[in-house]
Amino acid sequence: MAEPKENLQMEKIVSLCKRRGFIFQSSEIYGGINGFWDYGPLGAELKRNVKELWWNSMTRQRDDVAGLEATIIMSPAIWKASGHVDTFSDPMCDCKKCKKRFRADQLCEDQGLTLIKNADGKFALPEGTKCTSCDSKELTEPRPFNLMFKTYVGPVESEDNVAYLRPETAQAIFAQFKNVLETSRQKVPFGIGQIGKAFRNEVTPRNYTFRSREFEQMELEFFIKPDEAIEAIHGSVATVAAGHPGEPQPNWGWQAWHQYWVEERVRFYEGIGLSRETLGFHIQTKEELAHYARACTDILFKFPFSKKDEQGNVKGDELEGIAARSDFDLSQHQRFSGKPQHVFDDELRQAWAKLPKEKQDDLWRRYYENRKNYLTKSGVEAEAAAKQATDDANALAKGNYVPHVIEPSAGVDRLILALIANAYSETTKTDDKGKSETIYTMKFHPRVAPIKVGVLPLLKNKPDLVAKALAVRDLLRPWMNVYYDDGGSIGKRYARQDEAGTPFCVTIDFDTLGEKPELLDTVTLRYRDDGKQERLKISELRDWLLVKIR
Ligand code: GLY
Repeated sequence: MAEPKENLQMEKIVSLCKRRGFIFQSSEIYGGINGFWDYGPLGAELKRNVKELWWNSMTRQRDDVAGLEATIIMSPAIWKASGHVDTFSDPMCDCKKCKKRFRADQLCEDQGLTLIKNADGKFALPEGTKCTSCDSKELTEPRPFNLMFKTYVGPVESEDNVAYLRPETAQAIFAQFKNVLETSRQKVPFGIGQIGKAFRNEVTPRNYTFRSREFEQMELEFFIKPDEAIEAIHGSVATVAAGHPGEPQPNWGWQAWHQYWVEERVRFYEGIGLSRETLGFHIQTKEELAHYARACTDILFKFPFSKKDEQGNVKGDELEGIAARSDFDLSQHQRFSGKPQHVFDDELRQAWAKLPKEKQDDLWRRYYENRKNYLTKSGVEAEAAAKQATDDANALAKGNYVPHVIEPSAGVDRLILALIANAYSETTKTDDKGKSETIYTMKFHPRVAPIKVGVLPLLKNKPDLVAKALAVRDLLRPWMNVYYDDGGSIGKRYARQDEAGTPFCVTIDFDTLGEKPELLDTVTLRYRDDGKQERLKISELRDWLLVKIR
């Protein structure tokens, strides 16, 4: 169950995470369970802070996003409509000799090879692929392994009662689209955000918590008008220059919205301490894109285990994917549930009526083609697809459309691991006698730091100092996570907080009690990253800290 000891930096991080209570193996006393991890006291706070920040910035700080909290087990029909029952699988193969099981694409990748995908969708191992455990070349052909965890609802374990633990939070958002639209007074463009657990029965969980079987997602489905509607209303679809395109505009089509969300998400990461240099980007190729997606940009983080390319550059591993999913999802749920998922847009209806006939015909034709393409790709036979696409294009002309979607989808646990790897810092000091000591500091951004401030009386056996320190703790406690510590030397206590990643410590000393009258009711404030200290009035402490941690 232990992490393979192939990466020294990861080894150190894993060790600190256990020692300081960030992350533990699930069920450790029973030998662990592969692909499942628990968060200890510091990890739980870190995770909570990250989720709060996402929720706050994605929903509460915006007028155009509403929140949702749906169940983990949903109707299995959802997973049929979404395509997960039929296609959500990884290719798996076994070594016939040592019986070790692999994800075939990873097995190839680890040997600098690429798994072959045949025209019929089946996979094959390239010439020379061997078992990385025993070197045997006797491997089974790759076969698909569905990643959804199955269970049964109710007491009878029959096929009729099969249900799945959700493999993504996204589908609940699509399934509740109409309810949210009707109750939130939102209008397209708008989004629905959700944070929650998801489950994937990974063939080979690896890289510590990066690829786990139980994990959490923070997903936004942002619903937009189809480009044909934008063109009908505004004459054309906006083109935007590289970089952040600024405040959303009514004439944005899917490309501008996609770029906007990529840049917004990068700003989010920067705001919690992951600089652009630590991040990477991967623009998915046509071959990599899911069949419904028009584009997908992955935001990567350069983890200690991330591989180097031939030039020695680290590209990184995925933190978040921002996908332009077209109108696939709501269209699928419309077809499978029989419940309309389109919206009515009076602005479109009116604008369409005023368009010259040639423009109407052009937009009608393009919308028709897009709908027909979607329907035929989804298995609808040609004649029925043409008829349905005609109905859909006629509906567009009357102001009705199925919204398109931009989806920023982030993995919480991956982000926590990125923040931990990014924060980890060690320095070794050697004293006059040649004795070395390694000092660990977790340099978390104050916004995500599990503990915001350590409150320390200089001495434990001076009741006046202790009473004052407890008063400072109680003053700050309603506003932030405070840790009171009076055990051991002040140096040891600072070191403990540095390892926990606490950005500030305040020390209550004799000057606080008025030994130097001009310093009465002031504290020493110490910065974690450089150990610098300054004096601050207790009356100003709360507001000073709030500015730093928000
Ligand atoms: N909803 C996209 C994903 O789970 O990857």
